[in-house]
Amino acid sequence: MGSYNVNAVVGLQWGDEGKGRVVDYLAKDADIVIRYQGGDNAGHTVINDKGKFGLHIIPSGVFNPETMNIVSAGTAVNFDRMHEELEGIKNASGLVIDNLFIDERAHIIMPYHMALDGAEESKRSDKAKIGTTKRGIGPCYTDKAARIGIRAADILDEETLRARLSAILPKKNRDLEYYGLKTVELEDLMALAAKWRAEFGDKIIDTVPVVRDAVESGKKILLEGQLGIMRDNDWGIYPYTTSSNPTAAGGCNGAGIPPRAITKVVGVAKAYSTSVGGGPYMTELFDETGDKLREIGGEFGVTTGRPRRCGWFDAVAADYACYMNGVTDVALTKLDVLDTFETIKVCVGYMINGEYYTNLPETRLQDVAKPIYEEYEGWMEDTTKCRTWESLPEKAKKYILALEEKMNTHITYISVGPERDQLIVR
Ligand code: GDP
Ligand code: IMO
Ligand code: MG
Repeated sequence: MGSYNVNAVVGLQWGDEGKGRVVDYLAKDADIVIRYQGGDNAGHTVINDKGKFGLHIIPSGVFNPETMNIVSAGTAVNFDRMHEELEGIKNASGLVIDNLFIDERAHIIMPYHMALDGAEESKRSDKAKIGTTKRGIGPCYTDKAARIGIRAADILDEETLRARLSAILPKKNRDLEYYGLKTVELEDLMALAAKWRAEFGDKIIDTVPVVRDAVESGKKILLEGQLGIMRDNDWGIYPYTTSSNPTAAGGCNGAGIPPRAITKVVGVAKAYSTSVGGGPYMTELFDETGDKLREIGGEFGVTTGRPRRCGWFDAVAADYACYMNGVTDVALTKLDVLDTFETIKVCVGYMINGEYYTNLPETRLQDVAKPIYEEYEGWMEDTTKCRTWESLPEKAKKYILALEEKMNTHITYISVGPERDQLIVR
């Protein structure tokens, strides 16, 4: 058995850290890229020589024709959206993607999942709203856990699919009726599945033999996480979470990789922070500084177009994220967005009910926590043309080194713009 070469790329904050651009960069010499959890709730921006793309369910490694891209067992797949995305890429760039495969075990997002996602969210009070992307992610994973999900393999076998849907639909239709929604017909779903089978049937495979062979022969594998740890269903701000595990451990599970095979975990974090959707977010700024971050950073959702909540870097949460993911290297993104801020703040602790915390507490306490900040002098210089560590302004270096110390890790990549080459490798 050779040495392993499995790299995971994970979000260290609340999502949208820039995972897509990091995967695109690292995929230049990757043999396999695997999306291991989540579905088309993701919005990963990739800007390269082929154009600008907002990817949802398609892995960010598809632009390298030599790379095999897998949507693995841990994901929730909407085939209609996958079709639209492939068409979108073809129309925009002329690229025909034929290096994409789906594991037989992946769960399928059915029309009733999307309907129920919206309906469940609309019943939640303002305070309880998760702000889901309404892509059916939660209801699909709910069915997975309840063992009434439809998997890609079921789509391949008409008889199995008919039997499973026949057993499931009475319950689904009861749920839909409860919310006053239109019920679904077995034959309509069978027809939909036939369409999916015709388009994707030969791309639905058992990925274990090929992934295992790649792992054991030391090929370069990239695991592409969706969202960030703060929305992890176990370790994030539950219940304002997604219904899967964006962590590196979730990558082992979702992609079928033994934990000891992971050689590098690249944690992606913005030089400040953003969050889309509900739940606590302790360093959120409600003033013009927050507006300025949103404006300069272009902080609007790739999937939903919603304005992102913006705030300072939370070093306590980032340190927790590095520990939980076993981060070996951090990619610090969007440093350039801070170029015109005179003062930059970093959260180093929280006051909660009169007590000082230097660790990340559970959701209930995050709700009432007040961040304690350290201040750094802004560099007030353009960093977008910097390509080496040495060329960065001294004050920017000081800020980066401070974050590195607080996260107890190494900041290996620093991005200073969205383009593929706007990256410093340190
Ligand atoms: P992901 O979901 O983690 O892949 O991140 P998103 O694509 O949702 O959000 C990141 C956004 O920041 C995208 O619009 C990227 O093009 C942009 N971006 C990434 N890195 C940088 C950077 O270093 N500087 C600037 N200005 N924009 C960046
Ligand atoms: P990427 O991969 C930012 C948020 C939603 C909501 C919560 C649950 O681009 O970082 P879901 O639809 O998953 O049930 O929603 O998670 N959310 C995201 N926020 N970026 C994403 O993806 C997101 N995917 C889901 O806003 O609060
Ligand atoms: Mg995103």
